[in-house]
Amino acid sequence: MKVSKRAKNVPASATIAVTARAKELKAQGVDVVSFGAGEPDFDTPDYIKEAAIEALKAGQTKYTAAAGIVELRTVIAEKLKRENNLEYSPDQIIVNIGGKHSIYEAMQAVLDPGDEVILPTPYWVTYPEAVKLADASPVIVQTDRANSYKITPDQLKGAITEKTAMLVLNSPNNPGGFTYTPEELKEIAKVLEGTKVVVISDEIYEKLIYGDTKFVSFASLSKDAYDRTLTLNGLSKTFSMTGWRLGYTAGPVDTIKAMARLQSHMTSNVVTFGQYAAIAALKGPVGEVVERMRVEFERRGKYMAERLNSLKGVQCPEPTGAFYCFPDVSSHYGRNINGTIINGSVDFAKALLEQANVALVPGLPFGCDNNVRLSFACSLEQITKGLNRLEKWLGQ
Ligand SMILES: Cc1ncc(COP(=O)(O)O)c(C=O)c1O
Repeated sequence: MKVSKRAKNVPASATIAVTARAKELKAQGVDVVSFGAGEPDFDTPDYIKEAAIEALKAGQTKYTAAAGIVELRTVIAEKLKRENNLEYSPDQIIVNIGGKHSIYEAMQAVLDPGDEVILPTPYWVTYPEAVKLADASPVIVQTDRANSYKITPDQLKGAITEKTAMLVLNSPNNPGGFTYTPEELKEIAKVLEGTKVVVISDEIYEKLIYGDTKFVSFASLSKDAYDRTLTLNGLSKTFSMTGWRLGYTAGPVDTIKAMARLQSHMTSNVVTFGQYAAIAALKGPVGEVVERMRVEFERRGKYMAERLNSLKGVQCPEPTGAFYCFPDVSSHYGRNINGTIINGSVDFAKALLEQANVALVPGLPFGCDNNVRLSFACSLEQITKGLNRLEKWLGQ
């Protein structure tokens, strides 16, 4: 059957490709250590599951408004006020089918053919594909390790043209594991003043921050930032609910209405009983749920970064957010390891998986071929085992 040019041009997600090969090897009985996961290794808390079961039993099994039930949008508005110092009314909020859908739909609602979207490296793999699906062009801005891979105000200034329609910010960052400080975000907000650039602020990892890191929502920085920002978040990471597909977007009424119109023809509402579970999640003991997971991630991330930095030719900033280490391994490029010449992050990941049975994700699809991504959403025992293997493999 014919396949559209649009579909042909979308590559499969690189993160999924590595996970699939690791699964294949596991199915053959190989003991693979996987650092590929993009989801917490904790279960969804019981009180959330119970709320979904209760909603099902109460007959919450029919269509709702495309943008989501008003009770949920009200609870999200309260959350944004309480935790993020953001004032949104329920009609400024839409519930989407995961944060990934929020990104796709926000871009469909804002972008026109020919528009440019600034994506600082490293960027989450979905961003450039969602930009292209909206017939716009990604403008990739290379950042430096010296600045922990964050875009500087000057780099941003240099990238803005009259075609720039959007900037995507993701803090805490996947795959970089860094978090912008409030001061850094204020500098970025200043550069944007007087422009028409819309900001997507992807805040999905907001609760997973470490050490003395402070999280601030971009839209809360000033009236100007508020007016130009679509604040994007979801329940996947905070509540270990990746499979539930619950995300949301908050922003100017007209943009949210445009997203709702698109959504009404694409997917309609998010699963109805899931929306009731989301109310319970956001109203529940959020601090407790998150803290348990956060403390564990912090311990693992610290250990992983320390071990990585002790490896010859590997440099890794300690993660301040999310659950990823993103070391620079490029000093090993050009080497012949067990008969394989390592010519970049893809070769590195492939050879490591096949030869030492450790799965990680190459940095190339995130725009950083010098790096690889290791998720620490797995036990400390697995982390130790995998890093021992990596150490031995690199030492050959
Ligand atoms: C940076 C970033 N944004 C958004 C998402 C979307 O998550 P979901 O679609 O599960 O809500 C992810 C998931 O990996 C992510 O890493």
